Amino acid sequence: MIGIERISFYTPAYAIDMRALAKARGVDPAKYCVGIGQDTMAVAPIDEDVVSMAANAAQQCLEGLDKTTVDTVIFATETGVDQSKAAGVYVHSLLGLPGSCQVYEMKQACCGGSLALHAALDRVARRPEKQVLVIAADVARYGLGTAGEPTQGAGAVAFVVSAQPRIIEIFPQTGYFTQDVMDFWRPNYMEEALVDGKFSVRMYLRALESCWHAYAADGGLPIQDLDRFCYHQPFTTMAYKAHRRLFTVADVEVPDVDVLAPSLRYNRLIGNTYGASLFISLCSLLEQTPVDMAGEHVGLFGYGSGCVGTFYAGRVIRNYRAHLKREEHECLLANRCLLSISEYEAAFRRRLPIDGSMQVLEESCGGPFHLEGIENHKRIYGRRRREAGANLGVA
Ligand code: CAA
Repeated sequence: MIGIERISFYTPAYAIDMRALAKARGVDPAKYCVGIGQDTMAVAPIDEDVVSMAANAAQQCLEGLDKTTVDTVIFATETGVDQSKAAGVYVHSLLGLPGSCQVYEMKQACCGGSLALHAALDRVARRPEKQVLVIAADVARYGLGTAGEPTQGAGAVAFVVSAQPRIIEIFPQTGYFTQDVMDFWRPNYMEEALVDGKFSVRMYLRALESCWHAYAADGGLPIQDLDRFCYHQPFTTMAYKAHRRLFTVADVEVPDVDVLAPSLRYNRLIGNTYGASLFISLCSLLEQTPVDMAGEHVGLFGYGSGCVGTFYAGRVIRNYRAHLKREEHECLLANRCLLSISEYEAAFRRRLPIDGSMQVLEESCGGPFHLEGIENHKRIYGRRRREAGANLGVA
């Protein structure tokens, strides 16, 4: 039995209200809150990037674990900070992981987290005494005033894969789908993603359909045996579309999509986190479902534009609730600072120097780790001096 032993996520301490964004853009708030299905959207301050968010998520995830047992770190991101150096190497250092650890970065848009999970499962299958730390972190950026703007967000998830899963066992049967399409992409020279929005929604659903057939052909569970579902959520109503499509493709009467509500709660508050989104949804499902889900089967769908999809499933382990970080996650979300739209726009426009000059960043509030500054094109990370306050440094 191999699966997830511990899991935790992190999102920055700043967010905007989607009603306020709708008002500022001259849009009916119901479009963002009902049509797209987002209540608030995380905003990353200048001193938070995928490395600091990942370190904050991973530190919480590893609490109480003997770090010397971690032999691999796989970091999935599509907003990496360097073309060469894996973002996980910074995290490895910040967390004090052993030098005997291997660290690498994985990329395939929002599917990277699922692909990293599968690589970790394979590693543990070969070496059952090892533990693999999987991290997925991203900052979703489309641009101010664009159609994609209400589907931005930022966050990181970290989980440990081992042969002693305490939360969910992941079954080996998997359905994959790959097709070379340009539905969403970000050239190396751009800070914001380019997207063909409606086409990307169609590709997501086409990938789901193909993955389901591939999953069935791989000996996967029949749909009637799947008790719960988690979908990649670029925006939460996408999960409703996916659920309806999946049951239609499986030729089974479409159930009430309200059953998805617990798996959407955190994502409604954070927004899109690309590779982390599916696993934040999994945290939400496990932590927000009022009944004990032990023994239940959960179907999981990851989609990464470009595109690659994957459908797989797992079984929730007995006593899983004792190992969740529900209180920490609730506290993180409840204590965020809501920015005005002009503060958000100012934060969005800020850039680090790209000429090698030095910049020491003012400290925002958030988790223990942040980006302290940049010098000679080198990013410098460290611990925050304080973890409270509300200085976003946008003035
Ligand atoms: N009240 C209630 N609902 C309303 C409304 C109102 N006043 N006005 C509009 N709506 C509904 C619409 O009917 C629509 O719902 P349906 O799709 O169920 O019909 C929904 O709100 C969105 O409205 P539009 O389709 O008109 O919105 P849009 O054209 O402005 O853009 C979008 C929507 C294409 C998702 C855009 O936000 C976008 O491009 N986002 C980025 C791309 C993306 O998220 N793609 C998802 C698949 S790709 C993927 O999953 C990978 C990834 O993470 C990027």
